[in-house]
Amino acid sequence: MAIVVMILLSVHALAGVFWVGSTLALTHSYFEITPKLFRAQMVAAALAIAAGLALWGVVIRGAQGPMANTLAVGALFAVIAAGVQGGMHRRNPVRGQRIAAVLLSATVVCMVISPYVR
Ligand code: HEM
Repeated sequence: MAIVVMILLSVHALAGVFWVGSTLALTHSYFEITPKLFRAQMVAAALAIAAGLALWGVVIRGAQGPMANTLAVGALFAVIAAGVQGGMHRRNPVRGQRIAAVLLSATVVCMVISPYVR
């Protein structure tokens, strides 16, 4: 089981890093560049979310408490960020990236502090 968690966590972190990193970089980009990365961002988002849900099923299972709550808040921010990026990519992609950047930064903070929240 440990190997499954290691693989899922690796996929989760790699896809998440690309998603969040590209989103942060695109907050300082031009309108024309943003749509070129949109598909890759959505693939990374889908991978990060899918691996995150799988980790939830394997690691958290039915557990409740501060760690699970913190992860759940972070996951909610990530899902909203994906919706914002998807919904705004035609009308105002740079603004979509900026809103998603704030949400995804909050996601990363929640994910990394979750084991220490008491
Ligand atoms: C729906 C979205 C998400 C869900 C359901 C989710 C779920 C989880 C779960 C259950 C864990 C705990 C794994 C464990 O303790 O072994 C975790 C850890 C982690 N997640 Fe997420 N996650 C999501 C989105 C993201 C995103 C977008 C990032 C961006 C980088 C991210 C980064 C991380 C990191 C770095 C950890 C490791 C934290 C640590 O143990 O120090 N997650 N996630």
